[in-house]
Amino acid sequence: MKKSLFVLLGALCTMGLSAKTKTVTPLSFDRSKGVKTQLTMPDGHSVSYTAYTQLYYVTHVEDSTYQYLNIFVPDGATERTPIFLRTYVGGYMESRAGGPQADDASGRALAEGYVLVIPGSRGRRSTVPQGKKTLYTGRAPKGLLDLKAAVRYLRHFVREIPGDKERIITDGTSAGGAMSALLGATGNHPSYAPALKAMGAAEERDDVFASVCYCPIIDLDHADMAYEWLYGQTASRQSLSEDKRAITTALASQFPAYQASLGLSLPDGTPLTAETYPAYLKKLLITSAQEAKDAGATIPDSIGFSFSQQAHGQAPINGGVGAPPTPNSGAGMPPQGMGPRQRQQGEYITDLDLSKYLDYVVSTQPLKGVPAFDSYGVGGATASGENGLFGDDAGSDANFTPWAATQTGRRLSPALEERIRLMNPMNYIGAPKASTAPHWYIRHGARDRDTAFPVIINLATKLENTGKEVNFKLPWNRPHSGDYALGELFAWIRSIVR
Ligand code: DHB
Repeated sequence: MKKSLFVLLGALCTMGLSAKTKTVTPLSFDRSKGVKTQLTMPDGHSVSYTAYTQLYYVTHVEDSTYQYLNIFVPDGATERTPIFLRTYVGGYMESRAGGPQADDASGRALAEGYVLVIPGSRGRRSTVPQGKKTLYTGRAPKGLLDLKAAVRYLRHFVREIPGDKERIITDGTSAGGAMSALLGATGNHPSYAPALKAMGAAEERDDVFASVCYCPIIDLDHADMAYEWLYGQTASRQSLSEDKRAITTALASQFPAYQASLGLSLPDGTPLTAETYPAYLKKLLITSAQEAKDAGATIPDSIGFSFSQQAHGQAPINGGVGAPPTPNSGAGMPPQGMGPRQRQQGEYITDLDLSKYLDYVVSTQPLKGVPAFDSYGVGGATASGENGLFGDDAGSDANFTPWAATQTGRRLSPALEERIRLMNPMNYIGAPKASTAPHWYIRHGARDRDTAFPVIINLATKLENTGKEVNFKLPWNRPHSGDYALGELFAWIRSIVR
């Protein structure tokens, strides 16, 4: 008991929450301060809404550039209208609260009639002056605490602010996708409560209804092992120096035990382990490519897929049965003189050579360095953004995995371990004291190499295994990106808020 109190106090001090004098401004919301304006959508139609801006969501504002949110209320919204909360965090950086963008999910949410909330939040590079010193005020988990405070602010003014506080849908991409996942996973968990109290966040719940996560960069403390386990055998990794390959091998070898420790299982009950993973990943990628093929995309022969031999001869016309395939219609053997590359594909994808496919992914964008995430000082590598995220308020970098720390002769203090724990949504899904969102929309492009596929598949699977509703895909041919296929996203949102 004593030890955990000590660890918590240590964590709070490292987080810059030790006794510091700050101005205390009570939380407020004044409905008369709204400004009426319009947004023109890409299709030319305009959406009228009222903007309420620069609403500070904590009473002890440490960084007035970031710690506020903006609210946009479309005409006709009521207290029963769902709230779409879009974070623009990228690269685990600070993010200023902006306005709706016509061509992303924020503008679309307004056009769909939802109340839009855009919170700012501190990030790994945000600083404030403190005497002669520069204080980094956004090191983990500060950005997340800001976003949780923003959710609490909405609940604090439950009657004054339009929108249904029980139907908050968070959205973000990449590090913002991770923030969305964290908001979804960690609702009301007591681990965050002391820090939120110290910031002057409202004493309210901070759970949300749904999380939209595009390519979330999560599970940072296990991302390196997953990355090398997946990509270690690619031509790109094999061509590295012996020293680097030794690091790859050491990291990859840690993955099976971690994967087993998660205790995940597939819908048919098969345990999701390092042994069963390749077959499951192939299945997800084949599903993705097949869906694209059905919609008319050409899937190249050269990237590892096999196709059924039987191509359909001719589509049925006017309700007819269609013509059977003829010898020259693309079915069966290629016509004489046609090389294998020109052979027409059958309708169905039957298999995938995973190594070939991973080499293809890497050919579209080079892999990250070794290690991909906790690189600081390992084999002479420089610090990653994530090393900055876990650094201290003086601006240091820090290792955040025991393995990397051992390599560099550092150690993870109990306070740092706690901060790492607070930043991983996997620790809270299914945890008894967390109110995890019931609905999840997770996308990670089929050629996104910013983190390894298992990281995202594990997130989706853990949520499914704990009974959440999960809409998950590896969309075909998408690189590391977000807010795409908005028709599909908003159809899903309509289905869950109905
Ligand atoms: C982001 C991308 C990364 O590859 C990463 O490691 C962290 C964040 C981003 O785009 O937000």
